[in-house]
Amino acid sequence: MKIGIIVGSVREGRTGTAVGRWVQEVAERHEGAEFELIELSDFDLPLLTSPTIPGMAERNYDDERVTRWSQTVDSHDGFVFITPEYNHSIPGGFKNAFDSLAPEWMGKTVGFVSYGADHGVRAVEHWRTIVANFSMHAVRQQVSLGLFTEFGEDGLQLLDRREGELNTMLDQLVDATRKMVLVEELAGAAN
Ligand SMILES: Cc1cc2nc3c(=O)[nH]c(=O)nc-3n(C[C@H](O)[C@H](O)[C@H](O)COP(=O)(O)O)c2cc1C
Repeated sequence: MKIGIIVGSVREGRTGTAVGRWVQEVAERHEGAEFELIELSDFDLPLLTSPTIPGMAERNYDDERVTRWSQTVDSHDGFVFITPEYNHSIPGGFKNAFDSLAPEWMGKTVGFVSYGADHGVRAVEHWRTIVANFSMHAVRQQVSLGLFTEFGEDGLQLLDRREGELNTMLDQLVDATRKMVLVEELAGAAN
């Protein structure tokens, strides 16, 4: 069972990488799943301009960068979305990456770690309605970090309770992903 921790900001000097590394460090102490840190910026994804809607493309994309992204998402059973809040919503680059695929997300699990002046909770609320389009199971617990209170010049200065919140979210995510994988195996065996 593989869970991808996606750092969704593609900005140079992004805050998201420090958040992603913290999540990975805590996640690696969790049993039952393998966790991989994925920097969205590594894929250098183009803006979605293809005439073929991703849901109709049957994984045949006209840009090799999208194909690589597709294979990476396909190879994971669940995800942690590390998301900042941009203009009271999710970052456009991250939405473009999400929109560029379709079946690769279908029915998979997701948990959220957000950050922003108001802890990025608006971004997560928007993500929850977006991922519903692919019937993704979004776990209830989220981790929401305060930009002005938990990020210092020396890096993250997280409140003591954050690690507990993250562990709860990861427990929910691993549990939901295990169930999802099991259901898929049963469905495969029945066919
Ligand atoms: C285009 C843009 C819009 C932003 N809008 C918001 C916002 O609406 N609310 C907020 O809390 N922070 C906002 N911010 C501040 C970001 O949360 C902050 O810069 C954060 O570090 C960005 O994450 P990143 O460095 O990983 O890209 C905005 C930043 C950018 C670049």
